[in-house]
Amino acid sequence: MNKHVIINDVGPRDGLQNQPRVLEIHQRVELINALVAAGVPEIEVGAFVSPKAVPAMAGTDKVFAQLKGDTVFSALIPNMRGYQSAKEAGVPLSSLVVAVSNTMNEKNIGMNTDTALVACQGVFAQAQQDNSEVQAYVATAWECPFEGEVSQADVIDVSARLLAIGAKRIVVADTIGAANPANVTSLMNALVEKFGAERFACHFHDTRAMGLANVYAALTAGVRRFDASIAGLGGCPFAPGASGNVATEDVVMMVEQMGFVTGIDMKKLLTASDLAIQLTGTAKGGKAKLWIEKYLS
Ligand code: COA
Ligand code: ZN
Repeated sequence: MNKHVIINDVGPRDGLQNQPRVLEIHQRVELINALVAAGVPEIEVGAFVSPKAVPAMAGTDKVFAQLKGDTVFSALIPNMRGYQSAKEAGVPLSSLVVAVSNTMNEKNIGMNTDTALVACQGVFAQAQQDNSEVQAYVATAWECPFEGEVSQADVIDVSARLLAIGAKRIVVADTIGAANPANVTSLMNALVEKFGAERFACHFHDTRAMGLANVYAALTAGVRRFDASIAGLGGCPFAPGASGNVATEDVVMMVEQMGFVTGIDMKKLLTASDLAIQLTGTAKGGKAKLWIEKYLS
């Protein structure tokens, strides 16, 4: 069994994108550097999207220019323009986003699913010429906030199409935190059986307190890559009940206690978590934080 779990901290992007407080470039860099210091192997550092759509992600090129080290830094891109900007900034890994449902794609990137897939094909082709890496998020993989429950067959179909046109990897995302361990097991088993575990990562939100249980379900299906957000950062302050990604410190604690290796220094991760709380004023910190602090001291 593969004992390594790779954590991608998406706090600096998914976490910061809809905070009431828009952080300064140097504060975003400071948060990323704290994650680097903790040994987090992969970090999503921002997004090359319209600053009108997501003001908090403006200046991601400036953030990236100040980063150093061996960490795999990635950025979210919605279209070819985003890809070009990421490439010019020198970002080594870009992440396209395609939701399974038409309505979510229209709202998020201004295209329906078929048009989005055609646009993705153009980006993958360009990336291949440029020798740069592009992965794809399959968003709202279990439930769409506008269309409701999403069919497993549709997720498999969108994933198959993305892999066929050149996605390096698929990040299966529970964008609104509506999945449960039973339907995570079912979908991830189906995807892993069809395409292999190494092609997938999972991205869970903790809206209904099922984030960790869903990570466990995906682990048992063979997935070894997970997005998580430092201090559980994220969630829309204007949508009561919405909450952030599953907290990085909780995921690291759980998988390490299960015998997996992440290479992350928990003490330094908690320092990054404290910083995320201080910078945003909204992040809660992982659920196990009090216990971890006591255990480490
Ligand atoms: N980066 C920066 N600006 C971009 C851009 C990019 N990748 N792609 C398009 N734009 C600009 C356009 O030039 C245009 O600018 P203008 O208003 O000054 O003329 C504006 O964004 C709108 O573009 P348009 O092509 O009319 O499409 P749209 O209004 O449907 O917006 C996106 C499409 C993709 C640009 C916008 O929806 C977006 O940035 N979404 C990001 C979604 C996101 O980050 N979601 C969270 C992660 S899941
Ligand atoms: Zn998310």
